[in-house]
Amino acid sequence: MQFHNTKEKIIIVDFGSQLTKLIARRVRDLGAYSEIITPKETKKINNFKMIKGIILSGGPSTVTKQKFQSIPKYIFYKNIPILGICYGLQLISKIFGGQIKSSSGKREFGRAIIYKKKNSQLTKNFFNSKNAVWMSHEDSVVKLPKGFRAIGYTKNSKLTIIENSKEKIYGVQFHPEVTHTENGKQLLKNFLFSICKIKQKWNIKSQKIKLIKDLKKTIKSDKVICALSGGVDSSVVALLINQAIKKNLICIMVDTGLMRKDEFKYTYNIFKKKYKLNVRLINASNFFIKKLQNISDPEKKRKIIGNLFIKIFEKESKKIKNIKFLAQGTLYPDIIESRSSSGSKTSKIKSHHNVGGLPKKMRFKLIEPLKEFFKDEVRILGNSLGLNKEICNRHPFPGPGLAIRIVGNITKEKIRILQDADFIFINELNKNNLYKKIWQAYAALLPFKTVGVMGDSRTYEYTCLLRAVTSEDGMTADYFNFPKDFLDKISNKIINNVKGINRVVYDISSKPPSTIELE
Ligand code: XMP
Repeated sequence: MQFHNTKEKIIIVDFGSQLTKLIARRVRDLGAYSEIITPKETKKINNFKMIKGIILSGGPSTVTKQKFQSIPKYIFYKNIPILGICYGLQLISKIFGGQIKSSSGKREFGRAIIYKKKNSQLTKNFFNSKNAVWMSHEDSVVKLPKGFRAIGYTKNSKLTIIENSKEKIYGVQFHPEVTHTENGKQLLKNFLFSICKIKQKWNIKSQKIKLIKDLKKTIKSDKVICALSGGVDSSVVALLINQAIKKNLICIMVDTGLMRKDEFKYTYNIFKKKYKLNVRLINASNFFIKKLQNISDPEKKRKIIGNLFIKIFEKESKKIKNIKFLAQGTLYPDIIESRSSSGSKTSKIKSHHNVGGLPKKMRFKLIEPLKEFFKDEVRILGNSLGLNKEICNRHPFPGPGLAIRIVGNITKEKIRILQDADFIFINELNKNNLYKKIWQAYAALLPFKTVGVMGDSRTYEYTCLLRAVTSEDGMTADYFNFPKDFLDKISNKIINNVKGINRVVYDISSKPPSTIELE
């Protein structure tokens, strides 16, 4: 367990909810530092002084069974305010003698209207006459635990907000962290600043100075290498280290040939010319194409790319003498995702390749300066380091690059077609001020050809799929609702300008059940 050495923090105990990260982000957005830990890790806390409040997340477990996930009871008696959300509320109720029922017929999913029953510090300025709150529960608390009182209710669940103000323990059945809950932010604010009394001190810019100081202290006069992809994470890492040590940073850029159109050249020039970094460019595109020939299985593609990347990076790094550190752009969600609430690995949906797979076999010590931050915090950090706006605000791009956006086997020609289509799509999004409203957008190439007609001739060409989603963190996503005239324009432009495409489709699936990438 890693604890940031800040003086004050809010601990979020993760019982396995998809929304735990969102709670942590909301808390940080409001100005309080937050850390996520597993229920097991709560047993290892030996210094409670820095912890100003604890939030118990939702989760798939049920307290109606004999075995359920919990935390040690003594934590409730440390005089630290506790807020239980969804499963968190049910757990509190169970521990303090309430009754919870698996509520067939009483379950609530999605929107519900909440009504006020009593005043509470937690709900100051939260209720209006009919708040909509967002629910996702099967079980309900049906009898109040001892020492608690009801603060708010919905039609289906009479005990939707409960409190024991003396012990500073609170529970809500709905999710205040999602934007669909009206005034959810206000409720969290009340908990953090009125009840926990944590100081509103956390902001990412003040962390920059500390990060640079820490890097200086760790690296001293040793050499560091960094795999620079041109994505926001590795770019911010490179600039941070460069500010900390000036020389002795060597960046390696491996051109896999699977980047977006002109992206590699653009990034290389910026880091070499604008930021004057020591960047080594490795052109490995032919190796990648060769190894990927006739491979259409998505997992195989990912493995091949991951392994080849490691091999090339290792070979190049051996050419530089006396390197002590390897810097990586690992983010906080990467760390959380590698463990589940029970401490075991979560089930594998796709094997995500990034440089995260590198160090185990290597001789370097690892530095991961961004491991406590969320992506949007890294963007703010990048901004304050003077990182070029285009790189700073770029949509996420997967490690295996265009390989997982060309469904089926990969050829040089298909890469060219896709790069051209994607370039047009992204340019149009920028021109129409849509890029920043979208979390991630890209073009993909489907593996079959269809018949079309251009001029007086029959065509038989590929189909381009466009994907654009809104999301908070990539875990869940909704498709972006484009105006029809934009879709008309973009389809026309791609078909007219990209040789090899005669059909454009727009993907209107959300995640889940689909994923953001196609492979
Ligand atoms: P999915 O497709 O799983 O993607 O819904 C969620 C987010 O993760 C990105 N992604 C990756 N990022 N290496 C990465 O660094 C990968 O292998 C990888 N695969 C998916 C994806 O672009 C989306 O933002």
